[in-house]
Amino acid sequence: MIVEETHFDAELYTLGIRVRVQHEKSESMAPCLSSGVAVQLSIMDALARAVTVLRSEVSKYLLESRDGEIERLAIQSAAMAPETIRMLELVGIEPGWTCLDIGCGPGGITDLLSDKVGASGSVTGLDMNAGFLEHARATAPPNVAFVAGDACGSDLPTGSFDLVHMRFVASPTGDVERLLAEAIRLTRPGGIVALQEPDGTSLNCYPPNLAWDKLKAALLGAFKGVGADPELAKRLYHAARQTGLSEVQLRTFIVGVRAGDPLVDYLPSTVESLRSTIFKLGLLSPADLPGLLAECRNHLQQPDASFTMFTVAQVWGRKAP
Ligand SMILES: C[S@@+](CC[C@H](N)C(=O)[O-])C[C@H]1O[C@@H](n2cnc3c(N)ncnc32)[C@H](O)[C@@H]1O
Repeated sequence: MIVEETHFDAELYTLGIRVRVQHEKSESMAPCLSSGVAVQLSIMDALARAVTVLRSEVSKYLLESRDGEIERLAIQSAAMAPETIRMLELVGIEPGWTCLDIGCGPGGITDLLSDKVGASGSVTGLDMNAGFLEHARATAPPNVAFVAGDACGSDLPTGSFDLVHMRFVASPTGDVERLLAEAIRLTRPGGIVALQEPDGTSLNCYPPNLAWDKLKAALLGAFKGVGADPELAKRLYHAARQTGLSEVQLRTFIVGVRAGDPLVDYLPSTVESLRSTIFKLGLLSPADLPGLLAECRNHLQQPDASFTMFTVAQVWGRKAP
């Protein structure tokens, strides 16, 4: 059996699954690496069958590639840029470094890394979502490249980056230990691994609002319902220490939001990106959701209303030299 081709299918990307297609003369086999399910059919049949099987058998990447998701992530990135820049300064990033942003989505922090490493450095963004990568490439500066791949096991060479970073990837995928192991593999000896992950329990608005509370419960419930961890920030330092990284550092921050701020739609828009999972888990009904979204959005437009975002933990440490 010869592995001839590694194929990334757009639909499989959204499930966070890599399928390796293997050919042997007229016979084809598509073992689904994430679940161990093997389907022996023609290649196209096998892929179609694998999508169906995997949909029911593995935990999905739960945020949907809906219209508006790129804008949602861009607004979030902009609001968190000052604290990310501060983290990069504390990390000690220097001109000339080679950096990797795993799960960069439509851009992640590749723009901030690009500024810091300058023309003599380079930045790679890795993601499994082809649409996000296409968007990212359209505006990328010359020292930034984007590649398709799996955050849990890419084809990038071992020990090839001065800094490997991930933001909001381990929390929704729910596999921080595996992602950390892969990040460490890709980091050069003596290089830095950095993660930023949320704790959604600090999503609180004032004055209190019932629609907000229901949407927050649905958001946290959707994460937990598929094995993701919306409170990963709480144990991120511990997880990083357990991997053997040294000089592990911890910072936390919370962004505050008022009516008129770009992040004001964070909770309603994120719930919209989770709607399939929310309905599937029975956390809210399709009949109830539109009213709750409208009520919450109306509340957040009140001039006196404000809310705090999820807490972000920034953790970084050094790989053994
Ligand atoms: C919440 S978004 C965060 C994007 C970006 N890091 C940021 O902070 O704006 C999570 C990203 O991780 C990517 N992702 C999730 N699981 C992945 C995997 N197994 N391999 C590659 N990318 C993955 C998704 O496609 C998505 O772009």
